Amino acid sequence: MITKFKTNAEVIENGDKYLYGNHIRMPLALEGGDGAWVFDKDGNKYLDFVGGIAVNGLGHNHPRIQECLAERAKTILHCSNYFYNEPAVQTAKLIVENSCFDKVLFANSGAEANEGQIKLARKYAKDHGHPERFVVITMKNSFHGRTLATCTATGQYGVHRYFEPLPDGFRYATFNDLDSVKALVDEYTCAILTEPVQGEGGVRPATPEFLKGLRELCDEKGILLMFDEVQVGSGRTGKLFAHQYYGVEPDTCSMAKALGSGVPIAALCARGEACNVLTPGTHGSTFAGGPLACALAMTTLDVMLNEGVLNNCAEVGEYFRKRAHEVIEKNHPDTVDEIRGLGLINGIQLKKPSGQPVVDLCFKDNNVLINNTNGNVLRFIPPLIVTKEEVDIVINAVDAAMTKLGW
Ligand SMILES: Cc1ncc(COP(=O)(O)O)c(C=O)c1O
Repeated sequence: MITKFKTNAEVIENGDKYLYGNHIRMPLALEGGDGAWVFDKDGNKYLDFVGGIAVNGLGHNHPRIQECLAERAKTILHCSNYFYNEPAVQTAKLIVENSCFDKVLFANSGAEANEGQIKLARKYAKDHGHPERFVVITMKNSFHGRTLATCTATGQYGVHRYFEPLPDGFRYATFNDLDSVKALVDEYTCAILTEPVQGEGGVRPATPEFLKGLRELCDEKGILLMFDEVQVGSGRTGKLFAHQYYGVEPDTCSMAKALGSGVPIAALCARGEACNVLTPGTHGSTFAGGPLACALAMTTLDVMLNEGVLNNCAEVGEYFRKRAHEVIEKNHPDTVDEIRGLGLINGIQLKKPSGQPVVDLCFKDNNVLINNTNGNVLRFIPPLIVTKEEVDIVINAVDAAMTKLGW
């Protein structure tokens, strides 16, 4: 018999006792949510601009998601990949019909979908008569996951440290510097992998020239262009995929985060020749593409694509950047270095060593949840259904925090 905890403090105390300490958590135990708002154990309400690190695209407790979950509970939750299930087919169909891709392979996390891309790239080279090609070029400051291959693909020493020897086969170029990529491509290269917008790396959009240049380079060398849209796919930028903004089509692309509205699911999308690489016995997963996660993904995509969510994301995102310039940059010119983003992934690069004091004050003084990434970038990744009024609350909270800090 489980005795439920009654307060925030009780959850936190027991959490510190029983949960492995690999995460730094805010002193807050979340109990419920509605739209862009979340509630803690003590009945306090917070405006959520962390959004489960870009997972809660439709916000909390969306009626279509509630309905989908209730319906699914009465049918089938899991059936293995020995069989077909309609939600998986419908989800793949929605992705294919709204993108440049021809096929979808499901996974359970962003790292796993990227691991699939890396395996696909190596086998693609072998299938095409190039067994010597195994190196994937990725970017410095990127983030691709925490498995051994994807943490190695990640171009950050802090993510590699302690885990050497790392798997061979990754080289790091400079994001937005095409020449640095060209300098690394050699006879061993099988693919180039990049995020169109670096998320964990501090919300840095690629330049159109960079992505277009990568496409041309890959075509010229006969190697694969792979995008990691784990964070910025699934509607985050106001399009289903961020690369749709750039008009650059990769051979493969991962997506995850907001795809399942909170239930773990990821996808490796492929087009053309890249669809024929991962044959039976070469890749797969017990849970991936199961009916529960796919029913939620199918519903999430249906709402995003057909109920105005993407338009709202683009419009409110633009409003966010406008207000950030008008209020935060104007009032704190010695603090704000740059405001950048696309749709509803936005960052404020600070001239200070860390944004954490602002994050802490927004939480304590104004019940606003934001986070700090890449050292000194305030990151805003709210649900895509957020309103302009809610943006104003956050902008005012950040402004007030910086004022209080004397910034
Ligand atoms: C761009 C990108 N790739 C991969 C990952 C890893 O995804 P997951 O944590 O689902 O494994 C993340 C997570 O933040 C990410 O932002």
